[in-house]
Amino acid sequence: MKKQYTRITTNSLVEMKKGGEKISMITAYDYTLARIINQTNIDIVLVGDSASNVMAGHETTLPITLDQMIYHASAVVRAIKRSLIVVDLPFGTYQSNPEKALESAIRIMKESGAHAVKLEGGEEITKSITKIIKAGIPVMGHLGLTPQSIYKFGTYSVRAKEKMEADKLLEDAKLLEELGCFGIVLEKIPTNLAGKVTQSLNIPVIGIGAGKKVDGQVLVLQDMLGMNKEFNPRFLRRYLDLETTISGAVEQYSKDVKNNDFPNEEESY
Ligand code: KIV
Repeated sequence: MKKQYTRITTNSLVEMKKGGEKISMITAYDYTLARIINQTNIDIVLVGDSASNVMAGHETTLPITLDQMIYHASAVVRAIKRSLIVVDLPFGTYQSNPEKALESAIRIMKESGAHAVKLEGGEEITKSITKIIKAGIPVMGHLGLTPQSIYKFGTYSVRAKEKMEADKLLEDAKLLEELGCFGIVLEKIPTNLAGKVTQSLNIPVIGIGAGKKVDGQVLVLQDMLGMNKEFNPRFLRRYLDLETTISGAVEQYSKDVKNNDFPNEEESY
């Protein structure tokens, strides 16, 4: 029988991988939507630095600050009771030196109450990852398309199609496991490579645009709810069309106000 978890921990995720149970992960950045996610069986809630795009309208994830990530994470922590809460360390808060990386991770853990941090990159950030894990903070890795490096890549297209990059990704994934990461996100890479990585590791591998041969999936909440029709990557499955629903509701409200149909007697004191 499938084990029921009252609180998901990093150990629960490893157990799920061993038992062949797929892991569900979704982003959240605010209390209102996190409160609704808390009514579901989602395993991991990611306070992603995609908040930079989704919440603030920036073109990339680079501008979001540590203070802003802590603000979003604190709001999510107030709502989530069961899922493991992972927070992205934003660009510029861990790449320069391991001491700074640890300070940033400690601020996230202390000031937001989240359970783990996620960092983008492999061998280049070995020292930062080691320092954070040694301090007792769980770390999730992120390989493949790492949006904080967008200006190095020059495009958001699929990564690691060529052998050299695929080999480096596999080596990086093994290294992240050796360093003690509890899981890895693989973004936008070929299905078979993601499958190979997943089979080579004991820690869970969560994919976004990495096919189904991984241990779990992550999507950005606002994307899967259909809140932005302009964002159409092939990997995205939309479960709702909230852009139409919300604009329709607001349009109707505006009409009601202008026609003096709102409020009515029952809505008045
Ligand atoms: O910031 C984010 O939302 C992410 C996911 C795409 C994995 O890192």
